[in-house]
Amino acid sequence: LKIAILASGEGSNFQELIDLSNSNKFDIDIKILITNKSEAGCISRAKNSNISYKVIKSSDYENKDYFENEIINTIKKQDIELVVMAGWMKIMSSKFVNEFKNKIINIHPSLLPSFKGSNAIKEAITNDAKITGCSVHFVEPEVDSGPLIMQAALAISDKDNLETITQKLHILEHKVLPLSISQAGYIIRNKFMGND
Ligand code: GRF
Repeated sequence: LKIAILASGEGSNFQELIDLSNSNKFDIDIKILITNKSEAGCISRAKNSNISYKVIKSSDYENKDYFENEIINTIKKQDIELVVMAGWMKIMSSKFVNEFKNKIINIHPSLLPSFKGSNAIKEAITNDAKITGCSVHFVEPEVDSGPLIMQAALAISDKDNLETITQKLHILEHKVLPLSISQAGYIIRNKFMGND
């Protein structure tokens, strides 16, 4: 499955995908990493694995439209079947989403529809949730919505804090994202979502 990764941060999920693709156990071909942060940890992971990457920062563009167009053109230059948002911290317009309709997935650190948005783990704590988790879903214009592909739950104990939950969620995410990618690949290739 030919994929493009969009990431803004550390890139531990991206690394997991790199390792799996190198192990030959998982049939993915990471064609490109696109990041909107010039200092993001995911860049060195791409460099170390000889994966091509491109930094596309919104501040370098006159407006959001131009910024998104650059990303769209970069993806379209490659022969991409699936776009994977793995820690992508930028909200994209419906124009962008519709450009790759039913071909973008996102990983989010909560059991959606609970705790949407960029503070999902903190909100689980402040709301005294006893359970949280991670979700992978097809991306729709509305933030953190769209058909779910997979979720995994994590119990929160009294001893947990932001750090421990974040760490435990990452471990879960590293399992759930690859499974979700293969599921999404199956859905896309068999046109279950009605697109081609
Ligand atoms: C993940 O927790 C993901 O759910 C969230 O951002 C984090 C990315 O982690 N949207 P990493 O950059 O893959 O380490």
